[in-house]
Amino acid sequence: MAKITRPEHGGALIPATKKYQIKKSDWLDLSTGINPHGWPVPEIPPAVYNRLPETDDGLIECAQNYYQNPDLIAIAGSQEAIQLIPKTLSELNLIPTRPRVGLVTPAYAEHEFSWQLARAEIMHLSPDNIESHLAELNVLVLINPNNPSGHLYSPESLQLWQQQLNRHKGFMIIDEAFMDCTPQYSLLPHTDFNQADNLIILRSVGKFFGLAGIRAGFMAAQPKVLESFQFFQGPWSVSHPARYVLKQALKDTQWIEQNRQWLLQQSDRLENILVDFIQNFDQQAKVNGSPLFKTVFTDKAQNLFEHLAHQGILTRLLDNLSGVRFGLPGDSQQFERLGQAINYSSCDLTRPFIKGC
Ligand SMILES: Cc1ncc(COP(=O)(O)O)c(C=O)c1O
Repeated sequence: MAKITRPEHGGALIPATKKYQIKKSDWLDLSTGINPHGWPVPEIPPAVYNRLPETDDGLIECAQNYYQNPDLIAIAGSQEAIQLIPKTLSELNLIPTRPRVGLVTPAYAEHEFSWQLARAEIMHLSPDNIESHLAELNVLVLINPNNPSGHLYSPESLQLWQQQLNRHKGFMIIDEAFMDCTPQYSLLPHTDFNQADNLIILRSVGKFFGLAGIRAGFMAAQPKVLESFQFFQGPWSVSHPARYVLKQALKDTQWIEQNRQWLLQQSDRLENILVDFIQNFDQQAKVNGSPLFKTVFTDKAQNLFEHLAHQGILTRLLDNLSGVRFGLPGDSQQFERLGQAINYSSCDLTRPFIKGC
């Protein structure tokens, strides 16, 4: 097998403290797409830690209601599904031994990594050429909206592609990790998995709800796929404290609505700062993204990343160096700090970093 490397991720503050010699508490971490003001977790009763998780605790009903679909199971973050889906589909003989898998890049790299481990033949696609390759694919993996580009696929195109794939028994996986601010784009409320039996949809509670640390999420698919997945997943994949917290978070409609508005305001503010900045920095650059992050696509990405890191602002340099992704600052002070750090008039970001600039 060719050498496969484990993907890197945002949120790696410890290595940054060592590399840039800035102590952990002095960093402004914008390297993830996690909501900086997540759902306010209440005190958890000791019995919740003491007892094993129970699957009939009402969590699934809360999720069915929030996501508007009955065919869901709880998972240990969408990451767990990304790792177990190749094995699940293969066990059910729903994909060939060496499936041909189409992925849009750049994207959250764990999908590609997981299919590489399953010895898949990977085909890199762009949103514009997906349709022309559908007939060749055993599996199509899409992130909607895409991380890091924010590209949104319409439910109509996705349904059409799912049906086209189904004609030759191809599978479609849609990762909706960043979908909560744009629920009108989710396929979940429109999907009957008895009909769309070649479709899997993933949801994360790490981003919009800001509950990345509890390692929980949901997977929707036809019952046979869910059952086989649970066989590999084991009995207690989602912890009791995670289930306890989630049952309340998914029902908190007032917080959900307020949070949607807040994220949209904050992300507009971030986008405005970045759009102003690129006018001087690189006129070819583009700012795209979702309500939880914005990405500056530029040839000078590495320079921008380094410039910010030397000032204690951690962002996410894309693996192919085509851009820098910014998570949302949590308050005005953090916005000001970012604004000052990219103040172009006092710094030449095209030259190597000069301390004090
Ligand atoms: C697109 C995408 N999908 C899935 C994940 C995994 O998230 P989690 O396992 O916390 O649900 C991430 C994490 O960054 C992501 O960016």
